[in-house]
Amino acid sequence: MNNRIVVITGANSGIGKAAAKQFAKEGHTVIMACRNIEVSRKTQEEIVTSTNNTQVDLMKLDVSSFESMYQFADEFMSKYEKLDILIHNAAYFNHGAKHTLSTDGIELTFATNVVGPYLLTNLLLDHLKKSDDARILHAGSNIIKHFFDPKREIDFDNLTGEYKSSEKFTVYKMYCQSKMALVMLTFKMAEEYESEGIKVNALQINGAKMSKETLQKVTLGYRMVASIQNLFFRQPSYMANNYYELCTSDRFKDKTGKLFNDKLDVMTPALAESQGFLEEIKQVTGTNKYPAYAQKKVVREKVWELCKELTESNSNNHNIL
Ligand SMILES: NC(=O)c1ccc[n+]([C@@H]2O[C@H](COP(=O)([O-])OP(=O)(O)OC[C@H]3O[C@@H](n4cnc5c(N)ncnc54)[C@H](OP(=O)(O)O)[C@@H]3O)[C@@H](O)[C@H]2O)c1
Repeated sequence: MNNRIVVITGANSGIGKAAAKQFAKEGHTVIMACRNIEVSRKTQEEIVTSTNNTQVDLMKLDVSSFESMYQFADEFMSKYEKLDILIHNAAYFNHGAKHTLSTDGIELTFATNVVGPYLLTNLLLDHLKKSDDARILHAGSNIIKHFFDPKREIDFDNLTGEYKSSEKFTVYKMYCQSKMALVMLTFKMAEEYESEGIKVNALQINGAKMSKETLQKVTLGYRMVASIQNLFFRQPSYMANNYYELCTSDRFKDKTGKLFNDKLDVMTPALAESQGFLEEIKQVTGTNKYPAYAQKKVVREKVWELCKELTESNSNNHNIL
């Protein structure tokens, strides 16, 4: 199993970098899919030197841009004959930033964290099918716990174009919604690709120390909060090891459509009806339950259809798909 071909998005820092290092150390072929080649080149060289593995490739990818994903997929498929492991690790969470649209007119958090993984997976599907044990992993977040509040929902009216809601826009809220949508996408993709033998799971990340560079991307207020959180968070290598286990261990070979916690236990949905105050506290502070909202089939289908619609309307401009 030590010769898998692995694509990791956002592999130049944090958990993605630590994961790239671990896969390389174990002898796998690693493709670091990063948007800033200049910055990422240093990380690539560092990984090659420290692991003695020269099979660490660096390829340009901006997961918020359709054009970039098409170019990446095209280049990847001409260079490699299959894909065994695809880790959607990159995410946008510049807390405090103002409402921004991607080059394709999609709110940037949703474009990067949801539509990106959807389209990239689709573009690489034929190569995943060629693997004897293809595994896809989504980087989820503890932030979806906000959905234990039954009033929370994904605001589908404000995912594209100008922001129209009377509520103030915050990246924090969008990040929360995008990570919930990503869990729903995980469940739907697992169903869709089951017959192809492709497994799709998500890991609910409950904290990993953030780098200085990452902290610089958020506003001062969030930076202060994150700096305090950093005192309690584990090193990125802990979660990177979870990526590694989920994508390579025989223990998870047949698992698909699951959300795992930081201890790699399968999480289960909370009941939709309130179970009383104590039970609710247990859910919010615990790591075994995810909000019942994630089980809503209608919303899940809506997320899937929206991703399909947004990416299909652009596919005519490109030469693959
Ligand atoms: N750290 C935590 O406490 C925590 C908690 C919950 C969930 N997570 C999740 O864990 C994953 C890794 O986060 P991290 O903590 O390791 O943060 P990080 O160090 O900031 O890593 C994020 C990576 O994503 C890349 N990225 C962002 N937008 C991109 C785009 N459009 N195209 C390509 N790459 C892009 C960044 O590249 P640049 O360097 O070019 O910006 C960076 O390499 C994320 O999915 C995050 O949501 C983390």
